[in-house]
Amino acid sequence: MKVIIAENYREMSMRAARIMADLIEKKPDCVLGLATGATPIGTYKELIRLHREGLDFSRIKTFNLDEYLGIGLDLSKPYSEDQSYARFMYEEFFSHINIRDENIHIPDGLAKDPESFCSWYEEEIKKAGGIDLQLLGIGGDGHWAFNEPGSSLSSRTRVQALDKKTLDDNYEAFYKKSGISRKDMPHYAITMGIGTILEAKSVMMLAHGSKKAEIVAKALEGPVTEEVTASAIQLFKGDATVILDREASAMLSKDFLSMYGE
Ligand code: PGA
Repeated sequence: MKVIIAENYREMSMRAARIMADLIEKKPDCVLGLATGATPIGTYKELIRLHREGLDFSRIKTFNLDEYLGIGLDLSKPYSEDQSYARFMYEEFFSHINIRDENIHIPDGLAKDPESFCSWYEEEIKKAGGIDLQLLGIGGDGHWAFNEPGSSLSSRTRVQALDKKTLDDNYEAFYKKSGISRKDMPHYAITMGIGTILEAKSVMMLAHGSKKAEIVAKALEGPVTEEVTASAIQLFKGDATVILDREASAMLSKDFLSMYGE
């Protein structure tokens, strides 16, 4: 594991985008695992800027980590009626680059049979040759994707009930703006499992801000536990890069940083 400490959100985003761009340049048909939330928005912005300078996304494939259950992409609907992660991905990233629609995979929140959909999603990842680089954030409760506390560290893509903390955090950050009430936001999601994520060839986890400092330290230095599913990073066999801004890194010990710091 390598831990990079950036001065601020912007630098964190630039470093993350550079790592992704280097991979795309080296392997133009690479498979990227993508994340939603406030954390990766700056990374997507920088990748869009690099695309304007020539970075080619025409052969990459993407798999998103998760999606709320019960909603799906409908770009014709106003923002207030479509809070899907699919919409987020198109608005923040896909509409601005030359990725092909058929190479985009996002869990289908409107799947009629979500369980079969989850098995199909796992198969599609395998058929694509596996994920070369999985981008990750970390939730306030330590989750990776929507793998809430208590999720098995060998879990696969599945339907997951969301924790109160996740619902509160996501309501404040996203849903509130749409005018949808807290009780009407989806309480379930489709999520890649921790076992699925650990099969990626490399992972890159980002976190910023002082609100994440305690959970980042727990995930990276605490026990590996289903209570903090991002602690699975300590089990990861391939290259794991963690990029934090200074605030999110504040509770990491000196010993840890001298061992894993850049
Ligand atoms: P955030 O969410 O980027 O909005 O903080 C991270 C997560 O829940 O994984």
